[in-house]
Amino acid sequence: MGVIFKAEEVSLAFGGIKALDGFSIELEENTITALIGPNGAGKTTFFNVAGGIYPPDGGAVYFRGERVDGLRPDQICMKGLTRTFQIARELGEMSVWENVMLAPKGQVGERVFSSLLRWGTVKKQEKENWEKAEELLKEMGLYEERNELCKNLSAGKRKMLEICRAIMTGPELLMLDEPTAGATVDETKSIMGEIERLREEHGLTFLVVEHKMDVIMNLCNPIYVMYFGRNLAKGDAEAIQHNEQVREVYLGG
Ligand SMILES: Nc1ncnc2c1ncn2[C@@H]1O[C@H](COP(=O)(O)OP(=O)(O)O)[C@@H](O)[C@H]1O
Ligand SMILES: [Mg+2]
Repeated sequence: MGVIFKAEEVSLAFGGIKALDGFSIELEENTITALIGPNGAGKTTFFNVAGGIYPPDGGAVYFRGERVDGLRPDQICMKGLTRTFQIARELGEMSVWENVMLAPKGQVGERVFSSLLRWGTVKKQEKENWEKAEELLKEMGLYEERNELCKNLSAGKRKMLEICRAIMTGPELLMLDEPTAGATVDETKSIMGEIERLREEHGLTFLVVEHKMDVIMNLCNPIYVMYFGRNLAKGDAEAIQHNEQVREVYLGG
């Protein structure tokens, strides 16, 4: 155990709007931390900064003790930090299988020289990716639909596929932006179950933005509350539910 990720006083403004205004967070390895807050609080913007889409105006972001703010998304992904998007970004005209096989990182075959020199390695890696994808789709309950076009999947299955694609990059830390948005009650249960299983069996760490309070309260500890780009509260489910300020701005009195 230890701190795998840390952001210190991160700021980012869009024009006059301070989307992030000195936000700090620390993630312990092998835990599921929640990030909650009202719409427009800055949650997605924080994921964008952590994932390298925007460099912050101020503050610092560390992954395993190393500064990562200012790195590109692919560089951050290579280090082991992968994020998913609030709006699923799978390719609708492609099958589930094709989507999952597109994701793996560090493919030797992508570099022409090494693919000529190391043909054996390429073959081996393709086989490994293939096996990994097959196992993952089975575990995540998508294997039966592997040849289905993504556009025909339910919202919940698309969210599950998004997690599969993220897992294929071999992450240690996964940031999930509303992983159950649009999912049915049953789908939500299975998505949350998979997140817990991935933590337990594969030792992954999660930061989850979520709106369904029962889900958060059962799955996540600690919970960070963000408000106007700043830290409002941090605590376990019990503490957050009883926090006066949180009730006022988020839980609705
Ligand atoms: N690319 C952008 N350009 C301008 N304003 C943005 C951009 N992204 C987010 N914002 C603004 O930053 C604030 C935080 O948004 P966001 O991070 O999406 O919040 P949340 O995910 O918590 O709902 C909002 O006021 C939003 O309008
Ligand atoms: Mg958002």
